Amino acid sequence: MANNVRPETMERITTPELARAFIDEQLTALREQIGDKKVLLALSGGVDSSVVAALLIKAVGKQLTCVHVNHGLLRKGEPEQVIQVFRNEMDANLVYVDAVDRFLDKLAGVAEPEQKRRIIGAEFIRVFEEEARKLDGIEFLAQGTIYPDILESGPVKAHHNVGGLPEDLRFELVEPLKFLYKDEVRVVGHELGLPDNMVYRQPFPGPGLGVRCVGAITRDRLEAVRESDAILREEFAKNGLAGKVWQYFTIVPDFKSTGIKDGLRTYDWPVVIRAVNTRDAVTATVEDVPFALLQHITARITGEVKGVNRVLFDLTPKPSGTIEWE
Ligand code: XMP
Repeated sequence: MANNVRPETMERITTPELARAFIDEQLTALREQIGDKKVLLALSGGVDSSVVAALLIKAVGKQLTCVHVNHGLLRKGEPEQVIQVFRNEMDANLVYVDAVDRFLDKLAGVAEPEQKRRIIGAEFIRVFEEEARKLDGIEFLAQGTIYPDILESGPVKAHHNVGGLPEDLRFELVEPLKFLYKDEVRVVGHELGLPDNMVYRQPFPGPGLGVRCVGAITRDRLEAVRESDAILREEFAKNGLAGKVWQYFTIVPDFKSTGIKDGLRTYDWPVVIRAVNTRDAVTATVEDVPFALLQHITARITGEVKGVNRVLFDLTPKPSGTIEWE
């Protein structure tokens, strides 16, 4: 489709000046498209939806309603940051939906990775649909579609295959970023005043920590994933690795091994650390993390995270391993 091809004349947005020009152009276009009507946006707190939200807040203010669904699989501090940035600082209409129990109940006992993904995707649509039905007079649905999503060359969102909203909720789409590449979205987001840890964050899969809590998700093991991930991110940030390594996170497999804590024998989970670099996520190499740092992180994780007695480092490039463990 012609209107889904990036115009050849479009300059690559690499500087604050070019970002400002793009923003001005989009503000005019968005106001023209939306008029005095209402817009809905599913705001995950990821780069793309956050930048769309910031643009729309500037363009149409309270005509935008953002819905943030907490499915219980977000990283530590993420829902809080979405509320802080968008509701408290940008004064947006933000509906926060605590759907944690709902998702975790649906996922209970489900071990097969693709089935977990399907449940998370389908439940997300259901929750979002319920929220959309509570709101009156919505005519537009904003989405953080970016150019690689249109080209379908990026593997990152290729797992999304869960259908969409029902027919009567097919609103007219608002997709201000659809011709931008990720690096351009980041420049625009920075220029819109979003915090750096939101704009320059590493990729995070839609099913979130759910695919890092290997096998059937349990609340206690999920907590171990979340807490160990928070420690890893904190230590990578402190040690200058956060902006350097493409993706880094922890995994908690669903088996236990013996250990010793405070002189007593334990039977607890291991935490696996994964830190990889890639251009396109099709192949990946493993980051050479300094050994002393790994030792320090190991001490923190085994000391601070409940139910964990061992830390492993995944040395496997892609292939043969995928980046995620499921
Ligand atoms: P793999 O594990 O396939 O991951 O090597 C490649 C990239 O894709 C991300 N990923 C996902 N992203 N939904 C997403 O939005 C998913 O279901 C999903 N699975 C993997 C992964 O984090 C990595 O960046």
